[in-house]
Order: sequence, then structure tokens, then C-alpha cells
Amino acid sequence: MLNEIQLSSYGQLSTKSSPVSRMMASFAVDFRDNCDINLGVGYVNEKTIPRNFIQEAQENVLLNPKKYRAALNYGGPKGSNNLKNSLRRFLIQNPDNGVEEKLLNSKEIIIGANGATSLLEALTHVLRRGIVITADPVYYIYCNFLERIGFQIMAIPEDEQGIRIDMLKEKVKSLGDKKHNIRFFDIVTVNNPSCTILSNERRQELITYATELSYNLGRKIPVILDKAYEGLVHDSTLPGLKSGFCYDTINTVYEIGTLSKILAPGLRIGYMIGEDNDFLKAMVQRVSDVGFSAALVNQEIASYMLDHHVSDQVKKVNAGYKSKAIQVKTWLDELLGTYLESYTGGQAGFYYYITFKTIETHDHSLFFKYLARITGNLDIDGTDDKKHPRVIYIPGTYCVHKSGELVEIGKRQLRLSYGFEDLNIIHTAIKYMKDACEHVMVNAN
Ligand SMILES: Cc1ncc(COP(=O)(O)O)c(C=O)c1O
Repeated sequence: MLNEIQLSSYGQLSTKSSPVSRMMASFAVDFRDNCDINLGVGYVNEKTIPRNFIQEAQENVLLNPKKYRAALNYGGPKGSNNLKNSLRRFLIQNPDNGVEEKLLNSKEIIIGANGATSLLEALTHVLRRGIVITADPVYYIYCNFLERIGFQIMAIPEDEQGIRIDMLKEKVKSLGDKKHNIRFFDIVTVNNPSCTILSNERRQELITYATELSYNLGRKIPVILDKAYEGLVHDSTLPGLKSGFCYDTINTVYEIGTLSKILAPGLRIGYMIGEDNDFLKAMVQRVSDVGFSAALVNQEIASYMLDHHVSDQVKKVNAGYKSKAIQVKTWLDELLGTYLESYTGGQAGFYYYITFKTIETHDHSLFFKYLARITGNLDIDGTDDKKHPRVIYIPGTYCVHKSGELVEIGKRQLRLSYGFEDLNIIHTAIKYMKDACEHVMVNAN
């Protein structure tokens, strides 16, 4: 008799995919194109992906081996110099972020093996296990991973400006001696799922507090700013967002960016910027350990794109999301307004995060069952061989942290993505949501 293969604790916890992945997978199994509607998926809109320019970039990279050396060979773990130089120019071009050439030149840029996600993963290998501080609602994909690999999450509710510093201070105080287990801050600057933008004032307060905490604990606590959606601020009335480096007096801020949202997720280009120290050296080694480097040809394509097309591309992408955000907002107000307590989003990224007054949205709720067509009522569901159109979204219960303050309100929340689906489809989905609300109200009385 042989025992089964011994798994690590992470391996054991990973045998089951996360609750969200399971829900999405069960929906995907029998997904019907042009019938079912996926407002849950975090995909970018296909129309924003500059296919022609990527084709042009690939040709130029391959035809110009002097500049783009050995693009189809292995790359180095620190990343392509062409790409890093292009990123530096791209970041300096944006006068709003307060990053001057001198400041940026004092920092190192590294390129992740496979998008920003691989850099977030790398952090967990090079930093000691312990407590990670983040904003609630949380970026559930990363937090789920952090917990499986052995970190604890301390999720602090956000308000309209981002993570609440008053509550953060209180919670750290309540940790007592356990505060020594705090390892890093992970803050998504345009939060996923809420699309709440971390304001400049709040950025400053956060970094000032992290600095105080670092002195208090006698060691630097890194502040990781995940800027995945910062290129997608499409409300032009907002003030420009400053880089965290502007407020950092002890070199403890690290910014993680990605080209997924403004160019194409398929290129898998993510980068991290920060002080060139042992932490960053270990991160570079992790890139090497996990796959030597990001595909060099993709790095060079990204470099070409940044050098030749990025400003028009960013304008185009944002114009598209902006018009969708405005239109979806009118439908939310018009069709769901009477049921809604509040919602965030619509200024950046491509999610609205909705809070209903009374209607519950979790996956056992009538609202969810109505939209998944699993109520048991044939008039609502349709028959097995002819189910009525289904709509999927991310319930708030998956977005709020299970031991945070938002557990109750999370039951009445959901994330709606206006990124992937076309507007007419989103309109249809919101109409179904209205029907679902009406059904819940009738059945509640
Ligand atoms: C907050 C956040 N960080 C990082 C990522 C992943 O970026 P990448 O595609 O570069 O791995 C995402 C993707 O949706 C995200 O929402």
C-alpha cells in the first residue's frame, strides 16, 4: 500500500481552486456565446488591444537585430534594457505623477517573469511570512494566494479616498506585540474590485504612517503600490495621481505596474520600481528561478510599442472605457436606482462596485439564483435544454475579507465589469438584474 504524494501546506490548500474560480468555472462549463453574459470577468475589452501595432512591432523587432538583440533567445532576469529605457521615458513623459528623471534614475526597474502577477508572487518568496496590510474590499485573487502561501491579511476598510488611515492606526494598535509580524503593505491604487482611487492626500498619509511604523518597529516596512489600473484613469476632471516616491523619505515605496490594461494582457509585461537593494536583488533572482525572464520578444515588442504608439493608445483605451462608464452609470441609475444604496467606480478601471439597500447578492441569494437561472421555477429558469440567458457577476462576499469589518455589507454588494462585454449586452444584463430585484422584492413580502 502506498500513501499519496506528500504535498506542502500550500499544495494541500491549492488542490481546490479558489471560491471565485470555482464559481466562474461552473458558469464557463456550459457558457453559451451570444446568450449568457459575463460581467464577472476582469478581461480587458478586446477592441482596446492594438493588434495591428503589435504586428508592426513584432516585425520591427525581428527585422532589427542590432537594436533588439537575440529577441527570440533567452533574456536576462533583470529585463530587457530597451524595455526598461522605454518605461523610464514613458513614466517621465507623464508630468502629473511628479516623477522627475533624477528621481527615477535613482531607482531600479525590474521586469516580472509573467506580468505584475508574477512580481506579486515573487514578493511572497523573498519577504518573511507574517501580516500583510491591504484595503477592504480586497483584491481577492492576490489575497487568496497570500493566505494559501501562509501570510495573514489585515484588511482595512476604505472610504472614497482609499484605505482609512484612522482605522489602520487603530487596528495596528490592537495587534499589541503582534505588530512585529507586519511584513508589508499591499495597496491597489485604483482598487480592484471597487475602483476607488487612492487620492494623493491619502497616499501621502499612508506613506507617512508606514514610515512612522517602520521607525516604531525598527525596520523598513515596504509599501507595495499595485498600480495595475493607474493608466486607466478616464475621468479627466480628476487631479493627476502622484507617484508614491514623492512622499517616501526612507526609500520604502515600491511600485508595481503592468502593460496588461493599456496594451495587452497577452504580452505578460509587468514591472516593479524601487530602491536597488537586497530586496530587489532577491526579486530578480526569483524572476530567474521561475523562468529566467519574461519572454524577451514580448519585452522588445512592448518597448517598441512604448516608443512609438503609447500615447495615442492610452488616449484611445481611456476614451473607450470612459464612454462605457458613463453609459453604464445611466443604466444603473435608471434601472437599479431604487434598489441601490451606493456604488463606486466609473472614473478609472472598468468596474462598478455596487451596494444594494436590502437585496443580497451572494451565491445562495435569490438574486444570484435568478440570474444563474437556478431558482427551480421554470418560468424564470427556462427548461434544462433551453435555459434563459444567465448573467454572472462577482458577489461582494468574495471581495470583502472574511475577518474584516465588511462581512455583513459584502452580502449586499457585487462587482460589475464593464470592460469585456459590449454595451448593448451590458444593458441587457442590467435589465435582467432589474428583473431579479423585482423578483426578490415580491418574494420577500
Ligand atoms: C490589482 C491587479 N493587480 C495586478 C493584476 C495583474 O496584472 P498582470 O496582467 O500584469 O499580471 C491585475 C489584473 O487584473 C489586477 O487587477
